Amino acid sequence: MVQEYTKAQVRDHNKKESVWVLVHNDIYDVTAFLNEHPGGEEVLLEQAGKDASEAFEDVGHSSDAREMMLKYKVGTLVASERKPEQPKKSTVDWKETSESSESSLKSWIIPVALGLAATIIYRLYFMS
Ligand code: HEM
Repeated sequence: MVQEYTKAQVRDHNKKESVWVLVHNDIYDVTAFLNEHPGGEEVLLEQAGKDASEAFEDVGHSSDAREMMLKYKVGTLVASERKPEQPKKSTVDWKETSESSESSLKSWIIPVALGLAATIIYRLYFMS
């Protein structure tokens, strides 16, 4: 079974002697990796004991880097403290696109319908 830890337990590992970071609900012991990290030890020390998910993603780590991480994983965050999975970006984009095309359709129909109604009323009253 995977070992579970709380954020408070991760926070205890915030010194050079023992550096843990939290990335996407998984916990990594990067103490032995400090010297080897291509991005330098400073950035890891800065995130020591913290949730480094955003900093990790901002760098745009390669798939090699993501594979490398697995070696340092020591556990996961307890279920009650986990963040819900982020929805996939593509789903959000699609939804936004379909919504905006739907509303642009609506903004089309209303003026056209008003124009038609005006024409009909005009014809009924003034052309008979
Ligand atoms: C176990 C966790 C980590 C592993 C295995 C790892 C691995 C790597 C690797 C292999 C690279 C070289 C570039 C690449 O292949 O993407 C890299 C670069 C870098 N990493 Fe990490 N990294 C980890 C955590 C972090 C964290 C938590 C930060 C937080 C700020 C960070 C910041 C950086 C930076 C700033 C670079 C340099 C990017 C550049 O020079 O363009 N890394 N890391």
